[in-house]
Formats: sequence, structure tokens, C-alpha cells
Amino acid sequence: MGNLCNKNSQDPSVIPNQPEETPPPPKLTEADFTKIKLIGKGSYGNVYLVRYNKNKQIYAMKIYIKSDIREKNQESNTKTERNLMTQINFPFIVSVKFAFQTESKLFLVQEFIQGGDLFFHMHSCKKFSNEKAKFYTVEIILAIEYLHNNNMIYRDLKPENILIGNDGHIKLTDFGLSKMVESINNKSYTICGTIQYLAPEIMGGEGYDASVDWWSLGVMLYEMLTNKLPFKFKYDGNYNFEIYRRNIIFPSWMDENAKDLISKLLVFDPNKRIGNGENKSDEIKKHPYFSDIDWNKALNKELVPPFIPKVDDDVDIKYFEKSLKESPVFDDNSEYLVNAEENENDDDDNYDGFTFIATSYRELKDMGKEDI
Ligand SMILES: Nc1ncnc2c1ncn2[C@@H]1O[C@H](COP(=O)(O)OP(=O)(O)OP(=O)(O)O)[C@@H](O)[C@H]1O
Ligand SMILES: [Mg+2]
Repeated sequence: MGNLCNKNSQDPSVIPNQPEETPPPPKLTEADFTKIKLIGKGSYGNVYLVRYNKNKQIYAMKIYIKSDIREKNQESNTKTERNLMTQINFPFIVSVKFAFQTESKLFLVQEFIQGGDLFFHMHSCKKFSNEKAKFYTVEIILAIEYLHNNNMIYRDLKPENILIGNDGHIKLTDFGLSKMVESINNKSYTICGTIQYLAPEIMGGEGYDASVDWWSLGVMLYEMLTNKLPFKFKYDGNYNFEIYRRNIIFPSWMDENAKDLISKLLVFDPNKRIGNGENKSDEIKKHPYFSDIDWNKALNKELVPPFIPKVDDDVDIKYFEKSLKESPVFDDNSEYLVNAEENENDDDDNYDGFTFIATSYRELKDMGKEDI
């Protein structure tokens, strides 16, 4: 694989330069989309399966209520999420098609990844086979490597954020906690992440670097193989977090190389953690656990997926949480009843520049937006 840091190469894993001529943004509004089902519910945003009225195309639409974001001090995170997701072009990362806003809400319209998230699958099949866990780990490593090589720390690696496409390959989503850094060795100090997957140094207060993502990968690999978390911890909900049983208990049946890799990812000292040495992600990719993996084939999606979703049609959501499917569509805010066109205001000071379109001008024409 070529040097991912060389932004001038033709390597498909490098963030492409923005096209010189960007078409004028379409005046998209909430009313351009028909909500079909609620498919994801998070701390700050809800995700809906929607149909774009003009061409009947299906998308996943993440909606943030601006007042909630403001109240929870998440304004800069949502802007970063939008900025990163619209720049990224990588086979194992979800692409954003449009971003737009109204006076009260922000919208991120993404490709709909129909196979659901790994959390759903881990809870329906309990343990993954070694081969299945390895397949997903390989593709996750490629996604995280791509982000690190482009100076991004992901900071929220967990099963809920890994989706499975109709081809069985993964797509990483949710850049709500991600950060752009000058160098991945630079220290960050913000305490953020999901407690079960949080590298201990994030709470330590002395700063952390991109290797926090490799810690989370270690937790995920252990969880995929055993359906349990590797550590016991206490958390008082108030930034006091302690892992009180530090030795990892490995079941005897677990693959020896998997045990070795997990114990090298879950090293408390980030300087000694695999993936944080001079060779960065290559150190992980060369671990004996992956001796049967051809990484170039993996990057080209040539590894055979362990599971292919079986769907009836483009709105089949059998791989999404049952509880969400039963929620009423308009459940997060009565403001949905307000005519979105009336609220359209792309010049809102706080979110200036949020509006984004990913399609080429030709595609826009195909979508019937040539008149904008
Ligand atoms: N593009 C997509 N296609 C299919 N399902 C998606 C897509 N994006 C998100 N989802 C579903 O919605 C859930 C929540 O989405 P996401 O992780 O982006 O938001 P979140 O966790 O609420 O984010 P935040 O941390 O910003 O609150 C995901 O776990 C996944 O099940
Ligand atoms: Mg999420």
C-alpha cells in the first residue's frame, strides 16, 4: 500500500482535493425528504431512514436539534463531524451526500447502510467466530489507519458505529467526537468517548494521542470474540472512572494470536501500546494474528465477508433495533410539524458553511436539481 500521507499520490485512500468548480448548493429542505422510520437514536441526534422525494433514492438522515446541541455545548463537535465526513472518501467509511440546515435543525444526509450496526449483530449472535471477528477487525484497522494518516483521531470506536453494507463490508460512521490534529502524536486533552471503550489515559488528564483508537479496537476485538468486556470498571457518571481489574481473563478456547494482539492493544501505557511505535498501524498489521491476511486485497474489498445481509427491498430494516422500528417517526420534536421551507436559513451565524453537497453537477442534474 502506498504512503497514505502523500496527498499528491493517486492512492484512493487519500482525501481528494476538493473539485475546483463546486456547483451552487441546492436549496434542500426537510420537506424534500419523506421520513420512513427511525433507525438510530443517540445522545445528540436521531437517524431516520428517508426517501428523497425528487428521485425516490433512500438515505439515512441524521438530525440535530440546534437548541439541544447548544445546551450540551456540542456545537463545535457537530461542525467537525460535518467537516470530516464531507471530506472523507474511503471504502470503509460512510459518505455524506448532503448537509443542510434550517433555523432550528442540522441535517446530515448519508448513504443508507442497510446491514445495521455491529452492536445489533453482536447482540443477536452473541460471540463471533475467530474468522468473523478478524474480518471486521481488518477493515476497521484500515479505516482507522486512513484517519490517522490524514491526521484525524476518531475517538469513538465501538460496535454501534460500525455498519455493515449490503456487500458485507464495513462502513465506519459517527464522527461526532472525532478531531483533526496537526500530527497524530500531538496531545489532546478533552475527555470524550464511550466509557466501555475509553483508553485510560483519556481520563488521566495528562493528554492522549491517536493511540486511544487502538485501545478501543482491543476492547472491541475481545468483545466480538467473547461477548464480554475485557475489564471491570467503576464509573460514577461524574468523570471518575477506574478500571479496577486490570488483568484480562482470556478463555482457553481463544486463538493464541488473538490473545496476544488483544494484550498488546490493551496496554495501559500508550507509549508501549502496539500501533504507537515508529511503524504505527503497520505494527498491528504485521502481527501474527493477521498472517493470513493480504492487506492489499482487504483494501480492495477482496476478502470474502463472513455475512451478507439479506434484505427484501431498499427500505427493509430488519437489521435495526426492534424498539426503534416501533417508535413513531415524528418523535423527537414537535417542530417537525413546522413547514421546513419557512425555517430555511443557511446563513445562521453559528453554522455558517454547514450546507454541503457531495454529488457531481451531473448527478445533481439526474436528481432534478439542475435548476438550482
Ligand atoms: N448511514 C447510516 N446507515 C444506516 N444506519 C445508520 C447510519 N448512520 C447511523 N445509523 C444508525 O444510527 C445509529 C446512530 O447514529 P450515529 O452513531 O451517527 O449517531 P449518534 O451515536 O447518535 O451520534 P452522537 O454520538 O453524535 O450522538 C447508529 O448506531 C446506526 O445504528
Ligand atoms: Mg454513534
